[in-house]
Amino acid sequence: MKKRLLPLLAALLAALGCARAAAPAVIDIRTDGLSLVLCANDDGTVVLRHFGGRIDDVAPFAAYRTHRRWDHGADDEIYPAAGGRNFRLPALRATHADGDPNTELRYVAHEVLPTGDDNVTQTVVRLTDRRQPLDVELLFTAYAREDVITVRSRITNREEGPVVLHAYYASALTLHGHDSYLLTQLRGGWADEAQVEHLRLAHGTHSISTRKLVKATHSENPAFMLSLDSDRFDERHGEVIAGALAWSGNYRIDFSIDEYDVLTVLAGANPDGAAYTLDARKTLATPEMIYTYSAEGAGRASRNLHDWARRYGIRGGKRGHVPTLLNSWEGAYFSFDEKTLCGMIDDAAEMGLEMFVLDDGWFGNKYPRDHDRAGLGDWEVNAKKLPGGIDRIASYAHERGLKFGIWIEPEMVNPQSELAERHPDWVVRADGREATQIRNQWLLDMANPAVQDFVFGVFDRTLALSKKIDYIKWDANRHAEAFGSKYLPADRQSNFWVDYAEGLRKVMERIRAKYPDVLIQACSSGGGRVEYGALKYFDEVWTSDDTEALSRARIQYGTSLFYPAAVIGAHVSASPNHQSGNVIPIKFRFDMAATGRLGMELQPRQMSDAERDFARRAIASYKEFRDLVEEGDLYRIGSPYDPSGTFATMYVSKDRRRAVVMAYCIRYRGHTPVPQFRLEGLDTATHYKVRELNVDHARCWFDGEVLTGAFLHHEGLNPPLQRLYDSAVYLLEAQ
Ligand code: DGJ
Repeated sequence: MKKRLLPLLAALLAALGCARAAAPAVIDIRTDGLSLVLCANDDGTVVLRHFGGRIDDVAPFAAYRTHRRWDHGADDEIYPAAGGRNFRLPALRATHADGDPNTELRYVAHEVLPTGDDNVTQTVVRLTDRRQPLDVELLFTAYAREDVITVRSRITNREEGPVVLHAYYASALTLHGHDSYLLTQLRGGWADEAQVEHLRLAHGTHSISTRKLVKATHSENPAFMLSLDSDRFDERHGEVIAGALAWSGNYRIDFSIDEYDVLTVLAGANPDGAAYTLDARKTLATPEMIYTYSAEGAGRASRNLHDWARRYGIRGGKRGHVPTLLNSWEGAYFSFDEKTLCGMIDDAAEMGLEMFVLDDGWFGNKYPRDHDRAGLGDWEVNAKKLPGGIDRIASYAHERGLKFGIWIEPEMVNPQSELAERHPDWVVRADGREATQIRNQWLLDMANPAVQDFVFGVFDRTLALSKKIDYIKWDANRHAEAFGSKYLPADRQSNFWVDYAEGLRKVMERIRAKYPDVLIQACSSGGGRVEYGALKYFDEVWTSDDTEALSRARIQYGTSLFYPAAVIGAHVSASPNHQSGNVIPIKFRFDMAATGRLGMELQPRQMSDAERDFARRAIASYKEFRDLVEEGDLYRIGSPYDPSGTFATMYVSKDRRRAVVMAYCIRYRGHTPVPQFRLEGLDTATHYKVRELNVDHARCWFDGEVLTGAFLHHEGLNPPLQRLYDSAVYLLEAQ
């Protein structure tokens, strides 16, 4: 009672123009290098006072004043709602059960929750509307060593009837006191994902968003970096804030700079066209927004996110080594039989690979999946192609010492399928309008629990085809459009977007409860589900359908800004490449794929003897250093965007005793300039032996030399990579 009266009293005083703050409660959320400081003011508002470098003594924030005119818009509230004095984009906008369109959130309480992990603290801040029984809980989780703070919200309706939420973001972050903000974001399209763009934010609003629902990260990605007080994206210097949203659905991140030069970053599920009706006594949990801070440039921001992801954020984070693999897609497409597949398995084993993955085309009988126009949805083994069933192929792989994986696309259906005949009501489509096709397929309505059961069943029944299935490649090759759900009532249609994403999450929860150890790849047409919501359940992502090593330089570089190499699927494919037609030497193709989870995707029988010999050697050497790729610290030495046309990627072990450096030339500039890669992350006093891998004889003066970390950092390596597709891999080992 007292708690509710105090804010009312303060608001009354404020209305009379005589608000005078008593000392506000300071809420101190911190990691080793980052502070997030909130103040619960005596008028009940909770404001964000600081997000940035760590401040040990936060007591002065109790007396801190912004000098903002009190009658000129709301202060920097931690979860700005539409109503009262707030004229900024709101994190929360609601029409209450009685039609009231205003919400003014006020402090109720905050509390530090036990986590059982001394690296992790959780703080919950409880807010409620001044007039209506609508509550918001903000949950902040701070990861000390990784300098990561995550935020998510829960909105609870205690009103008499449904509340319509027009905006329901996960978090709002305000930043102030900086001269400029350089935004780094990813843009792209199919086979051209994760291209890096930098732009200086201006006053007004800039958004990163999607409404595609599925394949939601092809053309943009819900992750960004902000370089503070600088117009330069710098790997090593300056303050950088990075953010990434964990949500397999429509997302939106708004960057707005107002007349006070305050930047507000709103991040969450995209509310556009997706007003959510929240029934009485129900709670909507938002996605989680992940933030990190670095005072040492973008490189450190990436490493913070990678460390956090490997330890807390991704499903496969604590696993053993990732198996190298051969995937059947670009080698066989839809045309195979048992002989083809067993031949591929033999070749994979002979080259030293550790898993065989049977891609699309293995199912459908009435409508055989011999092309992408039929059979999707009919998940029985095609008896003509595979009379011995999946078990025969999986067993053969296991006999040859390989794990076995198989492809599914359970959220989709071809119109030409038994499933579409049986369940037209499961298809996402608007009544009386065309059900649009993309890649000849429709989307199933995951808002419908019956569809959720079906999708779980597809996974479950596929695993039942053989006890020897170790890996599932989960594809999704279309986005949502022309939407309409037969399951949701007419007045709840716009709940579809959130309910679909929730439906997928529930299915993945069930799958992981039953199959904790099966490796699962989020494929989604290559690059369509590269985000931390998916990575809670999936072990890896298929980064792009563009397997060409030159394009991969930029795609893998862009992805590495936010996601660790441990999840980045990267395959060596045929030359000429099936997407671009480009002809690239086998060494460059291997050296590029070796920066991620190495695989191959071609018909080995079409390789020359020299290519096979090289493949054997490169796969063996990858196994020598893959622990560094999976668990080491990433240092980007230059970038594939540099005019020099050369760049390197290096991974350093946590104890700094070993490192691998992979260097590339992607542009011919004559035989004059020689690249010089000054290395990072090494111990200056340690002596490292440098050894080039995947070559017959020493190609460079430093191969076999023992050099100090100081030399390697200050002077570096200068391999003469001058011709297009020259590349080199160096292993550095402490002596
Ligand atoms: C799209 C995926 O990204 C490819 O790797 C392959 O699995 C095809 N779908 C199969 O249809």
